[in-house]
Amino acid sequence: MLMIPDNKIIADWQPHHKDLFGVHVIKLHHRLIDTGLFTREALGKVIERCPTKELGIESVSFDGDDHRRVYGELGKTSGVDAIAAIEKGRIWMNIRRVMDWAPEYRELLDKIFDEFDDRMDGFKTFKRNLGILISSPNCKVPYHADIQGQSLWQIEGIKRVFLYPRSEVFMAPKNIEKILLRETTEDMPYRGWFDEFAQTIDLHPGEMITWPLYAPHKVENHDCLNISVTMEHWTKPIWNSYAVHYGNGVLRRTIGLNNTSTRDHGVHVYPKAASALIWKKMGKQLEGDVIKTRNFRLDPSSDNGRVAI
Ligand SMILES: [Fe+2]
Repeated sequence: MLMIPDNKIIADWQPHHKDLFGVHVIKLHHRLIDTGLFTREALGKVIERCPTKELGIESVSFDGDDHRRVYGELGKTSGVDAIAAIEKGRIWMNIRRVMDWAPEYRELLDKIFDEFDDRMDGFKTFKRNLGILISSPNCKVPYHADIQGQSLWQIEGIKRVFLYPRSEVFMAPKNIEKILLRETTEDMPYRGWFDEFAQTIDLHPGEMITWPLYAPHKVENHDCLNISVTMEHWTKPIWNSYAVHYGNGVLRRTIGLNNTSTRDHGVHVYPKAASALIWKKMGKQLEGDVIKTRNFRLDPSSDNGRVAI
């Protein structure tokens, strides 16, 4: 069993948080660090155990004014050295679906969401997912929104999270559909003035935040290595909302229907869920992760933490 004082992962839960969860931005304090599962040594071992297909290593290559995304591999570099390399460079590592291949993290993930489910009457999560994100000083994640319930848990370093209002001004329904239909991996339309309306939070070790479904956000690391845990979850209302937006997207694409409703309850959900299923079966979704050529290997002895291959 995990050794945690009073056996709770969230240290400062208050009864009113159940009304705010998933509806407003909330920042809470967590005890993930006390589990011992997120020290650099422990994470080094996780990196070494990670199946190749679940280990995303990316950077940017500059060619004059042009820049392109490049992909890395671990090679024979140890996990701890990989973290040291990321600390020196401009690299982000995404350790995906940890609970699928590391049982102690599955146990932790279930404990966390069982805790949420216990504390919020009627809140029942499924398809829970835990990933670990290790990223270089000053790395940025551009403006986007996510498909499912999302939370971000800080372990090491500080990152600034910009959270934008959940309105059509900041993310049009058509763009949410594009994300849900996985038609785009591109950044969402963003204007500099959006930031005037953003809530900005500097996330420190031991803090976590969660935000409303589909709320657009971007993230900027401070000038330090960042280790964060990302968790995803689904609930019945999140699934209904997905089905409605997904179905609307399909209708818009097949019969050009506009002015579709995005209410996530009521009888209209079911035909839309059905059309979503049909669309999926037709295989019209773009492939998610395709195998890419590896351009570099992590190397802590190099100035930028990487060597070309
Ligand atoms: Fe996100």
